[in-house]
Amino acid sequence: MKSDQRTSTVYLLLLAILLVVVIATVVLSVIVLTRTNEQASQRASCDSVQTTATAATTTQNPSINVTDWRYRSIYHRHRIQVIVLHDTEVPTVEGTVDVLNQRNLSVHYIAGVDGTIYYLVDQTERAYHAGISSWGSHVGLNDASIGIEIVNTGVDIFPDVQVKAVAALCRKIIEKWNISPQDIVAHGDIAPSRKHDVSGWFNWTMFYAEVGLFPGLFVSNITTAQQQSILLSTSANSAVFDANVQNLQQRLSDYGYVSAIDVNGYFDTKTEFVVEAFNRHFCPEFFVKEGLNSSTGDYIPHPENRRWYGISEERLTYLLENTVRDLCAQC
Ligand SMILES: *[C@@H]1O[C@H](CO)[C@@H](O)[C@H](O)[C@H]1NC(C)=O
Ligand SMILES: *[C@@H]1O[C@H](CO)[C@@H](O)[C@H](O)[C@H]1NC(C)=O
Ligand SMILES: *[C@@H]1O[C@H](CO)[C@@H](O)[C@H](O)[C@H]1NC(C)=O
Ligand SMILES: *[C@@H]1O[C@H](CO)[C@@H](O)[C@H](O)[C@H]1NC(C)=O
Ligand SMILES: *[C@@H]1O[C@H](CO)[C@@H](O)[C@H](O)[C@H]1NC(C)=O
Repeated sequence: MKSDQRTSTVYLLLLAILLVVVIATVVLSVIVLTRTNEQASQRASCDSVQTTATAATTTQNPSINVTDWRYRSIYHRHRIQVIVLHDTEVPTVEGTVDVLNQRNLSVHYIAGVDGTIYYLVDQTERAYHAGISSWGSHVGLNDASIGIEIVNTGVDIFPDVQVKAVAALCRKIIEKWNISPQDIVAHGDIAPSRKHDVSGWFNWTMFYAEVGLFPGLFVSNITTAQQQSILLSTSANSAVFDANVQNLQQRLSDYGYVSAIDVNGYFDTKTEFVVEAFNRHFCPEFFVKEGLNSSTGDYIPHPENRRWYGISEERLTYLLENTVRDLCAQC
């Protein structure tokens, strides 16, 4: 009797364990299936028609007939068209990651002062680093770019080892995604009225030499006096139309500063900001490097940086002659 009772108790126990195992398996399967479907539909929502059709096959309409005609379509390109360089103004990599996370921002890479590259967001994913911005035919550069944050206070030299590491990284990205030379830009280029990074302390001469782009850009063919001569600037008569200003605005627009500048013939504030961004990037010999206002901590802008010099003109001419815009850039 006692032994029978014990046996049935054991059976009951075994049965209970079996039940628990079965229920757990079912629940787990449901969770896994739901998440897989969620991921599939998330991917589908931001991808191509093809992926949507595939997701639909697995979730809604199993009998859908998808014919692969992707080879029939000619005019399409991958998301990654531009590289945007930033400086952090935060002195460490750790601090940069913390600040980005606190502000709901992100960047694909961070370059440390010692040249170590930290990979944070997958190249094919969209990171949040550019904000309101434009370059060439692109508006909102987060959609179309890879962002690189370079650790620097904004008012310090960038060690050679760091510049070379950033250049080596860019070279890989350029080769992988076939980026055009004019589409390696600073944050200040794509948002000239809001942003001034990378700062004038960044050595673009070394950068371009390392990446192997625009050879000869920094070799000037004009005299020092011609380089220094101010061709255009805001002056007492900046409210007067000037065809030379309009021509300059058109050429800056052609190079990529399309939405940042109005081609109106007036050397206005927008033009000043674009000229400053251009000089910071392409005329390092003349650009007055940023310093900090000791009372506010803000960077100090210099009116000299907002003038159009002989050297600026020479460099813009070189750039326009050595730039190949995507044939379908305005599509
Ligand atoms: C799918 O559509 C293509 C093109 O109309 C057709 O050739 C093919 O037979 C269809 N396949 C199925 C399984 O219905
Ligand atoms: C960041 O996003 C979260 C929700 O994901 C929101 O609650 C928070 O306010 C955001 N923080 C900032 C600084 O925008
Ligand atoms: C920038 O790099 C170039 C090439 O290495 C070098 O000749 C030049 O002195 C550097 N400029 C500054 C300001 O350090
Ligand atoms: C300087 O002249 C050379 C030879 O004509 C030319 O290849 C180069 O592009 C010129 N550089 C600039 C900055 O205009
Ligand atoms: C620093 O900022 C203060 C307050 O805005 C301003 O009055 C002063 O002119 C600035 N100094 C420089 C050197 O820009």
